[in-house]
Amino acid sequence: MTNFHKAKKSAAVLKHEILDQYASPFASKTGFNSVDHRVAFIDGYAGPGRYDDGEEGSGAMLLRKAHESASWATPRQVELHFVEKEPEFTARLREVAAAEGVGISFTIDDGDVSKHLPKLLKSAEGIPLFTYLDPCGLIIPLDEVASIFDRPGGRGAPATEVLINLTAHLRRFGGILTSDNPIEASLKRIDEVCGGDWWREAWLKECPTKNASDDQKAAAEAAVVEGYAKRLSTRAGTAGTWVIAVRPRSDLKPLYYLIFATRHPDGLVTFGESASLGLKAWRKYHAEIAAEGTLFADGSWEEAWTEQEAILDKQWVETLSDRITVELAKGTPFSILERAGDVLGDLAGVVRGTHFRKAINKVRADGKTATDPKGVKDLWSLRIKPS
Ligand SMILES: C[S@@+](CC[C@H](N)C(=O)[O-])C[C@H]1O[C@@H](n2cnc3c(N)ncnc32)[C@H](O)[C@@H]1O
Repeated sequence: MTNFHKAKKSAAVLKHEILDQYASPFASKTGFNSVDHRVAFIDGYAGPGRYDDGEEGSGAMLLRKAHESASWATPRQVELHFVEKEPEFTARLREVAAAEGVGISFTIDDGDVSKHLPKLLKSAEGIPLFTYLDPCGLIIPLDEVASIFDRPGGRGAPATEVLINLTAHLRRFGGILTSDNPIEASLKRIDEVCGGDWWREAWLKECPTKNASDDQKAAAEAAVVEGYAKRLSTRAGTAGTWVIAVRPRSDLKPLYYLIFATRHPDGLVTFGESASLGLKAWRKYHAEIAAEGTLFADGSWEEAWTEQEAILDKQWVETLSDRITVELAKGTPFSILERAGDVLGDLAGVVRGTHFRKAINKVRADGKTATDPKGVKDLWSLRIKPS
């Protein structure tokens, strides 16, 4: 495989790392109290299940997760629902599932996810549901994504969570908008995807002409992603959303964004931890690819990567401790989760408990709080009090 193909593949590696990190805790936590320990996953843009080189796609991974969950001391009954539009991929997915899904409850539908979603939501009624939407073209309209949350919520209701990759096409959206002859029908289709035409203004505010710089395009993209997450959150009546900027290195622009929405604070915490670990594994993968064909290919890339990670950790802890200090100055106790927008901001899904611990200790050493994170497991929810 060439470096180019590996780098291209690396974008998928990240999504898979995060899914791999998160699927088990989701099944474990939400299936603990669910009816018959049932838990459902919908993979709306499933792909072939495994790629030509044998690598796991989301299909094979979810089947593996279902087997793992079934082997726990208190087994979870994971029910998988796949939808795939391309007949060739659906056929491949059926082969993969026939070989690797023995004993697992799964459905495979061919065609458009929009068509099948209502039926799949019905089959997951009353049990926890995680939906993964990873299109390579335009995603289904925001209204349809939000419909996933049209089920009972509140305390004790089964978990409802969505992970989407929205951005594969944002750059193209912007291009259509600032072209000399924007095609209204295409713009209208994007309006549907975004749940209204608000995105046009959001984009043009940051990126008014087609000759805009890369920085302007990146800012426009970020603004649309944030706007989308906000709308999804409002429509879903959720506990919150994470918008995760996927950067191979801290000094590079995001390659894409993932949006995670949940109605449960536990979901935010657990996904935040998983995303951070997934991103770390992905940066490592990226560093290894980047070293290929260079002097560092002998393995010394790992040392350089470890050093780079230590620099990142230090920067993040400093940023977090500065932000926590600002929040403490407001005079009332708070948890990082409660003020996630202010404390995490662009670090959502990037940092995790270990960084919080160091940041709180730093603020404590500066005398700004007496709150001691020692021995505390959930640092997202720890109330940090001004001293
Ligand atoms: C990025 S790939 C999916 C990768 C896969 N989820 C994974 O993680 O391994 C997107 C897939 O969505 C399929 N697709 C595109 N539009 C679709 C639609 N409207 N409904 C269902 N599948 C669709 C494509 O054929 C393609 O296989």
